Amino acid sequence: MIVAKQPGKTLGVTISEFDASTASAADFGALKKLVYTEKIAVLKGQDLSPAQFVELGRNLGQVERYYQQMYWHPEEPDIFVSSNVPRNGEQIGVPRTGKFWHADYEFMPNPFGLTLIYPQVIPKANRGTYFIDMGRAYEALPQDLKDAVEGTLCRHSVQRYFKIRPTDVYRPIVDILADVEAETPTVTHPTVTVHPVTGERILYLSEGFGLSLADDKGNDLDDELLRRVLEATGQLDETFQHPHIHLQTYDEGDLLVWDNRSLIHRALHTTKPEPTASFRVTVHDEYPFYEGIAV
Ligand SMILES: [Fe+2]
Repeated sequence: MIVAKQPGKTLGVTISEFDASTASAADFGALKKLVYTEKIAVLKGQDLSPAQFVELGRNLGQVERYYQQMYWHPEEPDIFVSSNVPRNGEQIGVPRTGKFWHADYEFMPNPFGLTLIYPQVIPKANRGTYFIDMGRAYEALPQDLKDAVEGTLCRHSVQRYFKIRPTDVYRPIVDILADVEAETPTVTHPTVTVHPVTGERILYLSEGFGLSLADDKGNDLDDELLRRVLEATGQLDETFQHPHIHLQTYDEGDLLVWDNRSLIHRALHTTKPEPTASFRVTVHDEYPFYEGIAV
């Protein structure tokens, strides 16, 4: 495999000549190492069937199937489908996913370390995904904010961005929210986590799933602290010009693997409807999600 920094970008590497069908365990290990240190690895020139895409994920660790069936690929349920392109006249997966800052499975007790995205239909305009490296964002925090979040906890929930399912239509919103809380109860993680491989300190919170901050005894902290942290990390910048924000665009055949421990991301959706479809596989590697996680 041939590794190169992404030209003009501060984040990520491209990897050419990575053939998942012939790659050795050492090659997959090297790929993971690059993901931990460079945060995004773009495998170029990939041409994989859905089954081969899942197999690539299995070579990186234990694949986590999404908890909601409506996202599953009809033949490969380990693939999460984001798509507005009908197949044989039927919707597969869910359209317009992830248009808010988040880490994948941030609202779960034990999130996975690796996210793989394999775009299938790439729109011509406004294509791509925004990323923020929350390790660097932590590093760049003013000292008073670093001190203020030290030792605190953050509560996470999917409730604000939960997608209403066809079966939820005509149900009272309070009942839907109660079901969401029963199925995915609010979870608590340290506000500052430690990456188990790099030892990097990471601000683990997002505008999408971060609900509130609490002190180490679980007492609520002022919402203003959370707002200031979100602002400092670039998540409240609706122009997407903040220096922490990286825009990743896609070429045909790109397959992204990223570090879901330290990156948050947000989909860039087309302003006018254009066909777009993407497959996702998510993987627990051999390390804990963060040092000291209780699972
Ligand atoms: Fe996501």
